[in-house]
Amino acid sequence: MQTVHSVPAVSLSTAPAPQSSTELLVIPIFEQDDLQDVSGLDAATGGEVSRARTSGEFRGKLYELFFTPAGRDGWKSRRVALVGAGPRNEFTTERLRRIATTAGLAARQRRVSTLALLNREHRAIEAALAAQALAEGLVLANYNGASYKTGDEPRGWVERAEVVMPSGGRALEDAVERGRVLGECSNMARELANEPSNTLTPRVFADRAASVARAAGLGVDILDEKKIEGLKMGLLLGVARGSVEPPRVIVLTHEPKGAPKAPVLGLIGKGITFDTGGISIKPAENMDRMKDDMAGGAAVIGATIAAARLNAPLRIVTVVPATENMPSGTAIKPGDVLRGASGKTVEVLNTDAEGRLILGDGLWYAQQLGATHLVDVATLTGACVVALGKSINGLFANHDGWRDTVLRASERAGDRSWPMPTYADYFEQLKSEIADFTNTGGRPAGAITAALFIKEFANDLPWAHLDIAGTAWADEAKPYQPKGATGVAVRTLAELALDVERWRSLR
Ligand code: BES
Ligand code: MN
Ligand code: ZN
Repeated sequence: MQTVHSVPAVSLSTAPAPQSSTELLVIPIFEQDDLQDVSGLDAATGGEVSRARTSGEFRGKLYELFFTPAGRDGWKSRRVALVGAGPRNEFTTERLRRIATTAGLAARQRRVSTLALLNREHRAIEAALAAQALAEGLVLANYNGASYKTGDEPRGWVERAEVVMPSGGRALEDAVERGRVLGECSNMARELANEPSNTLTPRVFADRAASVARAAGLGVDILDEKKIEGLKMGLLLGVARGSVEPPRVIVLTHEPKGAPKAPVLGLIGKGITFDTGGISIKPAENMDRMKDDMAGGAAVIGATIAAARLNAPLRIVTVVPATENMPSGTAIKPGDVLRGASGKTVEVLNTDAEGRLILGDGLWYAQQLGATHLVDVATLTGACVVALGKSINGLFANHDGWRDTVLRASERAGDRSWPMPTYADYFEQLKSEIADFTNTGGRPAGAITAALFIKEFANDLPWAHLDIAGTAWADEAKPYQPKGATGVAVRTLAELALDVERWRSLR
């Protein structure tokens, strides 16, 4: 496979626009923009900017692009790119991040390897957040979907990028570095999630996670099938029974020196390397998509690495149960009863509701390792895609303060999430005649009953669940996003870890 991502050197610059000496100077332009803060721009481009704006060739519509030679009037950059920023009063940090990705992708298409991105004045956005978003967006652009095409010519890489701000300082430099790391770790997660299931089996997933995690200084423990049996993780083992590939549990720990005993953030990610549905088999159409059913696992791994590299001052335990979900002569069948490591029994009415099963054992193990606050991330239900679509995560929780904390992290990260109800009424849909509960509640409120299943394993610790079934994978390319894995939730969880001072005392 070809290299799928590369981290550009990103630095902070305070040089005024005319002094920027990279190959390409990128300038976001609003609709109805007076361009006061970049007044020499038109002259530097020989009038091209005003011409394009008058003719309507470039109107500042969101993510619209316009390239033109510059370099007159003493401007050092030979070319500028205008990127549409939409209406000024609708501007957000998320748009700024996407503008940076749009610019990075367009630059790569034109084989531009060094660029500078100008932060225009937005009263609404704090400078540090803007610098971070610009760095993140640029790094996210330095990513290709996995390619096994022989003779495929990958786009060029952006090798060096400058984030241009009106003033500098340590806080802004740190923000750029934070953005660079968060972008890189999102790309790592995308790389794992994009990989087909024959090259990313549970064992390979575990090996690759272990090597990137060790490089970041994390503790790593990979549980093989024997250890999993020893721990009596019957829910994970039940799902794994249908496959010839043995399951793994990937365990990462971040234990910074001097970190207090509590809180301990427990991150649990769904690691189904392929979901056929098992005996309750899925239809053939689009089944290939189920190679990304470990995107939640990849996200918690990426986030843990980011938290370690950014020195998040708290302990983190990350648990990814990983297996295939296959039909076979040894597979579990509808009606079978499984007993998880927590002792709870489950009647499996549909073997395609496998994610919640393995997460049940995952949540149990995170608590064994001392987690006090839990977040799980999973491509869990088609119902969540029906409810919220392809760009918003479903957010579920058993604790209002914890839900709000995760929501705030998600907003900072630009991974948008929306709170969903978890009323106990819904749990009635999971009633079983012969076990503690079933693993499916039928069609109504399918995303909620799935969440309530997982909640049973949280034992009243603050717990939140992100359903990323709609958001983990982009079916269509956008100016700011190629097709394929998105890396969703990596930045949310890393922001959550970095925000620990604000939630330390939540119980
Ligand atoms: N991995 C799927 C959920 C999914 C669907 C992710 C579409 C991404 C896109 C999950 O394991 C699953 O099959 N869920 C079932 C649950 C049902 C059987 C209760 C579903 O959503 O249909
Ligand atoms: Mn399934
Ligand atoms: Zn699944």
